Amino acid sequence: MAYAIRTDRLGKQYPGGTVALKDVSLDVRPGEIFGFLGPNGAGKTTTISVLTTVLRPTWGYAEIDGVDVALYPERIRRTIGLVFQRSTADETLTGRENLEIAAGLYGLSPAESRPRIRAVLAEMHLAEVADRRVRGYSGGMRRRLEIAAGIVHEPRILFLDEPTLGLDPQGRGQFWQYIRALRGRQPMTIFLTTHYLDEADQLSDRIAIIDHGGIVAQGPPAQLKAELRRDLVDVRTSRTVAEARAILARVPGVVAVERLGNDGAYRLSVARSEAIVPSIVRSCDAAGLELAAISTRTPSLDEVFLTVTGRQYHEAGDGEANGPAPPPAGGR
Ligand SMILES: Nc1ncnc2c1ncn2[C@@H]1O[C@H](COP(=O)(O)OP(=O)(O)OP(=O)(O)O)[C@@H](O)[C@H]1O
Ligand SMILES: [Mg+2]
Repeated sequence: MAYAIRTDRLGKQYPGGTVALKDVSLDVRPGEIFGFLGPNGAGKTTTISVLTTVLRPTWGYAEIDGVDVALYPERIRRTIGLVFQRSTADETLTGRENLEIAAGLYGLSPAESRPRIRAVLAEMHLAEVADRRVRGYSGGMRRRLEIAAGIVHEPRILFLDEPTLGLDPQGRGQFWQYIRALRGRQPMTIFLTTHYLDEADQLSDRIAIIDHGGIVAQGPPAQLKAELRRDLVDVRTSRTVAEARAILARVPGVVAVERLGNDGAYRLSVARSEAIVPSIVRSCDAAGLELAAISTRTPSLDEVFLTVTGRQYHEAGDGEANGPAPPPAGGR
């Protein structure tokens, strides 16, 4: 099978000594939306930088559309589009001028780029502000301009590095509407990094989770969740009973019990089974533990992350409070 993106034991060590990628093997099929997930500092931007020829790999192999990224960077640049994690627009130039520069970087001649720029400005609802300086743009306009710069040359493979970071929920929704519409018009593979697990879950055909520079899970989100063979049951006991936790833990099929807050709420991790709810109710009844509420749900990617890394996703990395890590040297 021909892959849109493939890496084989890809490694990257920065000059300072940090090993940011350790033997990363990935494959992304043509037309897929591939979600690349991981906490701050996991190696997402580094991976994108190597795949888009911004950085050279230290070891291992990577190809785009069958072309070796280390050997043929110019060919790669015509195939791909890149929307960076941090803002890259030149504030002192107009939107149109920024797009002219982007088109030039991707190898388009001025004659080729003029009609493309006009089209992409219209597509991104920027036509009216195209000849104003970017300094006066709103946050949403800037983000749309950056997307426009990433797609002006109609790339077959689009890399989006944390494209919705800092956008409010409405902005995130709008952003995804644009991307979906774009994909409706032209076949395109999308490689997307995000640390919003829910966002990746909803949008991606397949995902990979990276942690400390290594891939810890890869596959369709539904499959990764199903492989856990777990469900979650939230119960609330009507009064706090000292031994509630022990009673719940003894129910057959219950694998783990986590206390949520102080009002008698617990989350049970249970082996997948139809009969688990009646079984919990019966056991609690027999032990004199009254239940005020009980509900089941299938696990989310948070539980996948917890299972493969042994720690909670929101505890991993530096946390969002510190903001994104500095971009790698050599970025535009
Ligand atoms: N230019 C650089 N020089 C040295 N080390 C770097 C450089 N860029 C990144 N690193 C380090 O490499 C590791 C991976 O960083 P990277 O930016 O790829 O992570 P990330 O997953 O994109 O994180 P974030 O979610 O914060 O964007 C981190 O330890 C980071 O500190
Ligand atoms: Mg990053």
